[in-house]
Amino acid sequence: TSQIPVITIDGPTASGKGTVAQRVADQLGYHLLDSGALYRLTALQALRRGTDLADEHALAKLAEHLHISFTGEAIFLSHENVTDAIRAEEVGNTASKIAALPAVRQALFALQLGFRKAPGLVADGRDMGTVIFPHATLKVFLTASVEARAERRYKQLIAKGIPANMEGLLMDLKARDDRDTHRAIAPLVPAEGAHVLDTSTMTADEAVVQVLAWYAAIGK
Ligand code: CDP
Ligand code: CDP
Repeated sequence: TSQIPVITIDGPTASGKGTVAQRVADQLGYHLLDSGALYRLTALQALRRGTDLADEHALAKLAEHLHISFTGEAIFLSHENVTDAIRAEEVGNTASKIAALPAVRQALFALQLGFRKAPGLVADGRDMGTVIFPHATLKVFLTASVEARAERRYKQLIAKGIPANMEGLLMDLKARDDRDTHRAIAPLVPAEGAHVLDTSTMTADEAVVQVLAWYAAIGK
């Protein structure tokens, strides 16, 4: 599988990773790995089962035995469509807490490598370029100011009819950034050789064009 191309897209929450990764994968006809969804699925399962969030061993077991499947649009957990359920703020916050546990990350390691299938893979998350695919064909680190990212989340929530307030979102984002950046294991940092793209004043499509241009330039 080491010949199969991989594009990694890492970055903080609401930097546009998911959106950009999806569109790049569509353009190239590649597979997509939304690695954050795996942490969210583990978190959802833990919340539903009332698993002690300090019990690293129990959480790793949950992660290891997830019955998941991805179709183009939806994510299933043991045949239940949980596409919307895993996007809840509580699930995201829990995901970011359990993602700091080494045994949980280890439990999801092999599962992630398995997404590398022909003709290629676009993988988005926090450690795609640093830990999971350190030899990726192209590594991108997407970022944007915390204000721009809060604004994007605000618009996403309002569009879904979910009440939101900017102050709360900003605080939440900063807390998540802090946890993801300062944890001991797989912290959020640009991978060696990563192209850094600040999208504060860009549209998602402009970011897609830049990523595809970098990819097209490889080997030339
Ligand atoms: O969409 P958002 O960026 O808020 O979150 P996500 O990508 O769905 O990931 C949820 C949480 O999982 C993040 O806050 C990270 O703590 C964790 N995560 C991680 O540790 N490593 C990854 N490769 C992906 C997500
Ligand atoms: O995956 P991540 O948490 O990094 O972000 P996302 O879930 O893709 O959400 C980003 C939101 O901001 C989406 O609604 C995008 O349409 C929008 N957006 C973007 O992704 N990139 C830009 N340069 C501007 C806006």
